[in-house]
Amino acid sequence: ALDSMKAFLFTCILVPWLVAASARKFDQDSQLIPGSLPGRELNGYYNENLKSRRARVRTILFSSCLSARKYLPTCLLCVCLTGSVYCEEVSPDMTAVPTLPKETAYLYARFNKIKKISTKDFADILTLKRIDLTGNLISEIEDGAFSKLTLLEELSLAENRLVKLPMLPSKLTSFNANYNLLKTKGVKANAFKKLTKLATLFLADNQLEAVPHIPESVRTLHLQNNNITEVSKDTFCRSNDTYYLRLSLSEVRMDGNPVLLSKYPDSFTCMKVLPIGRYR
Ligand SMILES: *[C@@H]1O[C@H](CO)[C@@H](O)[C@H](O)[C@H]1NC(C)=O
Ligand SMILES: *[C@@H]1O[C@H](CO)[C@@H](O)[C@H](O)[C@H]1NC(C)=O
Repeated sequence: ALDSMKAFLFTCILVPWLVAASARKFDQDSQLIPGSLPGRELNGYYNENLKSRRARVRTILFSSCLSARKYLPTCLLCVCLTGSVYCEEVSPDMTAVPTLPKETAYLYARFNKIKKISTKDFADILTLKRIDLTGNLISEIEDGAFSKLTLLEELSLAENRLVKLPMLPSKLTSFNANYNLLKTKGVKANAFKKLTKLATLFLADNQLEAVPHIPESVRTLHLQNNNITEVSKDTFCRSNDTYYLRLSLSEVRMDGNPVLLSKYPDSFTCMKVLPIGRYR
């Protein structure tokens, strides 16, 4: 509560004064202020004389703080620009996903102190296409947090503290969970099976002991620096189908794992490249 009070004081009292004070400069470089002012407001804003512009900025910010307090602190602490919200290394510390403006498509919330992702965090923002939560302290994600985001294509949870993965939405093309604490138990064998558009899968620097099911569409697979001890004919190829070719897969990293890949010569015959890894 203290944090949100601080945030409120900062965004609704301090920032408007700073913005008003620097309105002249903003006018000169035609820069958008980091707020969620609609385009029409801004056009009108540029056509008026300097004094009333400054007054208007102040009025807009103050009245927005009063009427739409729910959204504005996010767009003043962070930068909101046409569907994108940038909240990187926010100070004071951001420990939860901020309330997002409606129709946000791109969220960049890297290098904060977010600990948990709840189902309600993204429940109303079905427009999201990309979420980047790299470099937070996330150790818990409620299972439904991302699964309903049917437009979501890119998700990064890299550099967090995840032991297990939540359900992932089926349109993902890129998923990054490098540098977490993922265990095989926390990554269901079929975790990625339904992701038929997935092209990039990054699971490096975790504690996985087995390779999960890799969808046919995957082109780049990073599994380096895990604890994988073996691969089988069915990991990448199909033991019951010698004609099967997995042509899309063009980069597989398995270096930094205990597995000695030369022990499994029949496991890579369907691939056009050999995994990078230990052969001797
Ligand atoms: C790696 O896996 C082996 C079992 O295969 C286990 O004994 C060992 O503790 C694991 N190491 C790490 C760092 O998790
Ligand atoms: C091979 O096995 C998979 C399951 O492991 C099955 O879905 C597929 O139909 C089998 N193919 C043939 C040709 O038997």
